[in-house]
This record gives sequence, C-alpha cells and structure tokens, in this order.
Amino acid sequence: MKNIAVIGAGTMGNGIAHTFAQSGFTVKLIDISEKSLEKGIATIAANLDRMVAKGTITEEDKHKTIGNIITYTDIKDGVTGCDLVVEAATENLTLKLNIFKQLSDVCDHNTILATNTSSISITQIAASVVHPERVIGMHFMNPVPIMKLVEIIRGYNTTNEVTKTIMDLSVKLGKTPTEVNDY
Ligand SMILES: NC(=O)c1ccc[n+]([C@@H]2O[C@H](COP(=O)([O-])OP(=O)(O)OC[C@H]3O[C@@H](n4cnc5c(N)ncnc54)[C@H](O)[C@@H]3O)[C@@H](O)[C@H]2O)c1
Repeated sequence: MKNIAVIGAGTMGNGIAHTFAQSGFTVKLIDISEKSLEKGIATIAANLDRMVAKGTITEEDKHKTIGNIITYTDIKDGVTGCDLVVEAATENLTLKLNIFKQLSDVCDHNTILATNTSSISITQIAASVVHPERVIGMHFMNPVPIMKLVEIIRGYNTTNEVTKTIMDLSVKLGKTPTEVNDY
C-alpha cells in the first residue's frame, strides 16, 4: 500500500490527503473543480504551517508532506496505479454511484475502493462495482489531521482481508479504527 487516490478536495478530502501525505504516502488528490483543488492545497499548507508554529512538525516535514500530493481533475488519470482510492466527494447517492461505476471501469480489480460517506449504505455503493468485496467504508472525522477515530464499515460482501488491510492502514496513519455496522 503506497499510492493513494483521494476523490474530492473539500473539507474531508483535503484533510484525508493531508493525513496520508504526512505519513509518507504518495497522494493523488482528484476533484472536478480546479478551484476546489487550489483551495484544498491552500488549506493543507495553512494547517501544516499551524503545526510548524506549534512545534509538532518541522518546516522540512511540511515541504515533504506537500511534495507527496499531486492534483488531478481527471479521475482516470488520478486513480491509475493506485492501491487504494478514498472517495470523499459531495454526499449525493447518484454522484457516488457514478464515481464508483467509473472506478470499477478504470481501476485494477485489486484496488481497494473506500468511501468516506456519512449516510449512504456501503452495500449499495458496492453494488455498482465489479468485485464489490473490495469496497469498504473509511469514515474519518473532521478535522481529519487531528481527530483519531476512523469508523470502518463493511458492506455485505467486504472480505476479512480488505477489512484487516484498512484497519492496519488506519493504525499506520496514527488513527484509532473501530468497526461499525452498515446501518
Ligand atoms: N464534513 C464533515 O464533517 C464530514 C465528516 C465525515 C464524513 N463526511 C463525508 O465526506 C464526504 C465529503 O464531505 P465534505 O464535507 O468534504 O464535502 P465538501 O462539499 O466540502 O467537498 C466535496 C468536494 O467533492 C467535489 N466533487 C463533487 N463531485 C465530484 C466528482 N464527481 N469527482 C470529484 N470530486 C467531486 C466537490 O468539487 C468538492 O470539492 C461526504 O460523503 C460526507 O458525507 C463529511
């Protein structure tokens, strides 16, 4: 697990990208809006500056973290070669089903597809994907770089292996993962 794609550069997406990048992962941050990408990167930089000022990270850590993030407006370009995609786009069922249908078409079948949705069924999202067993909920809390809890939500078909991979990955990010029901 090395290359991560994050879809959506809004409140949650930029926080998720920040968190992965600060832990040394290469992050491809994708948004349909160039403006959201610019705003997302500016937010990450401002939050890193605050951490430098507090002495929690160094100036070098800040530059490394920013350097680990590449932005894309094209979903296909952004997700190519990724081991994990974390979808954090606008909370809208039709929009998310369309995104997952695209991911199903363009991602390798081994790529784990996670969603940060707060209210949509993981099983329903997974039903739009070939190999629904690699779809899982990875529900970060706002503000992501600060909040420790990550709720891990299995869909009906999600495998034990995928769940373990995402639980272990959350720990690597310095988070506290807890498995919760798709309810
Ligand atoms: N805000 C919270 O406190 C919070 C907490 C936990 C989970 N969530 C969940 O996180 C997700 C994102 O919420 P948010 O608050 O960050 O929303 P947001 O409105 O701040 O950001 C959403 C981003 O998605 C982008 N987007 C829309 N359609 C897209 C597409 N087809 N491809 C790529 N990008 C697209 C938008 O341009 C926008 O930048 C939602 O599923 C929400 O339920 C939100």
